[in-house]
Amino acid sequence: MLPPVGKTLYIRSWGCQMNAYDARRMAGVLAPLGYTQVPEPEGADLIILNTCHIREKAEDKVFSELGRLRPLKDKRPGTLIAVGGCVAQAEGALIQGRAPFVDIVFGPQTWHRLPEMVAKALKERVINTDFPAEVKFDFLPEEHAPPGPSAFLPVQEGCDRFCTFCVVPYTRGAEYTRPAESIMGEARRLVDAGALEIVLLGQNVNAYPGLAGLIEKLSDIRGLERIRYTTSHPLSMTADLIAAHRACPKLMPFLHLPIQSGSDRILKSMNRKHTSARYQRIVENLRAARPDIALSSDFIVGFPGETDEDFNDTIRLVSEITFASAYSFAYSPRPGTPAAAMPGQVPPGVKAARLAQLQALLNDQQEHYNRTFIGKVVPVLFEKKGKKHGQLLGRSPHGQAVHALATDGLIGTIAPVRITRALPNSLAAEPAPPKTC
Ligand code: SAH
Ligand code: SF4
Ligand code: F3S
Repeated sequence: MLPPVGKTLYIRSWGCQMNAYDARRMAGVLAPLGYTQVPEPEGADLIILNTCHIREKAEDKVFSELGRLRPLKDKRPGTLIAVGGCVAQAEGALIQGRAPFVDIVFGPQTWHRLPEMVAKALKERVINTDFPAEVKFDFLPEEHAPPGPSAFLPVQEGCDRFCTFCVVPYTRGAEYTRPAESIMGEARRLVDAGALEIVLLGQNVNAYPGLAGLIEKLSDIRGLERIRYTTSHPLSMTADLIAAHRACPKLMPFLHLPIQSGSDRILKSMNRKHTSARYQRIVENLRAARPDIALSSDFIVGFPGETDEDFNDTIRLVSEITFASAYSFAYSPRPGTPAAAMPGQVPPGVKAARLAQLQALLNDQQEHYNRTFIGKVVPVLFEKKGKKHGQLLGRSPHGQAVHALATDGLIGTIAPVRITRALPNSLAAEPAPPKTC
């Protein structure tokens, strides 16, 4: 058989970890056609933008990037431009209208069909935003792009919860759970390819039935050192999953558990189906199971109808719980979601002021948390080179980004380092000699 002809592929991906995973699999399914990935779009034969629709700003990025790419296509008309991901799913027609030079529009459930879409696109425009009956995970080739020391592994995709602000149930579709054999097979391949850590993924990862049991089974894989899972919904934090944080040493002491708001009135209007007290109880149980667990969350401020009092409930909740890290966003009305049509939309200035106040508190908590690590020796999984010469980047068990001046040989290993400084979003460290006693 002739070797495939060399062609180049540029992929830019935004959004959540699931999108990052999809991007890696896209490179994987295109590799047998002779496509190798390049870091810049200039001169690439195929350009894929893997998009995110979660907030208006995320969507805007697609169109500004398409504006930048247009001259490349004018100069070299043979270049294929594809838009995938959640904006493609939700706004396929808008993309066709605003950027007619785009050759392929495809949703998050159809990347396994990229080879045929690319072949077809050389002749005509391709739109593929179905939710196909077959399941993309079942398509070979299984893996091509190397996973790196920390690898994402989807166990569940889609969402049936329909929080009133969120586009995910529309862009990713209904909840789908991958069979355990398929997950275990992929986990073993990832570990064989050098992954030391697996991050189980799902829009609603703990909706996976028996997640605790799966974590236990994964723990038996030799060579796999660390397990994480994200993103969880409070309502699916079952007792056995909480207990796994006590029982399973490979399960890292970190949990991202979005609450969105501290006001019960707003939580109800968001259709989150739990109260702030229930969230607090879950946190207590997690801390009882694993006292050093680092907690992270997501918050939305300025949801329709949010009053100063509601916002103060959020501030109070954050002050009571204290988070190791968190993401917070100003509410962004999304087309087709119930909240976008609710009365009491909050003016942008009020949203911005609340966001600044909440972020100041969360940043303080994060800095304070990080400072408690100064002087400690921490095992860090080094993943890649940092921006500065001689610097490596990795992650602590508690989920902090750690950078250290160390030799490249440490990439793909877990090495002890001594924390020297706490920065707002990361820790600085120096290599520490392994303990001798
Ligand atoms: N599946 C996860 C989160 C998915 S989206 C969960 O259930 O929590 C990631 C985060 O984006 C959300 O937690 C929320 O805080 C934020 N987000 C989602 N829609 C948003 C919107 N319309 N405006 C602002 N932030 C939003
Ligand atoms: Fe969106 Fe809510 Fe589903 Fe999370 S649980 S993906 S916020 S609808
Ligand atoms: Fe964005 Fe889609 Fe993920 S909207 S956050 S890329 S599921």
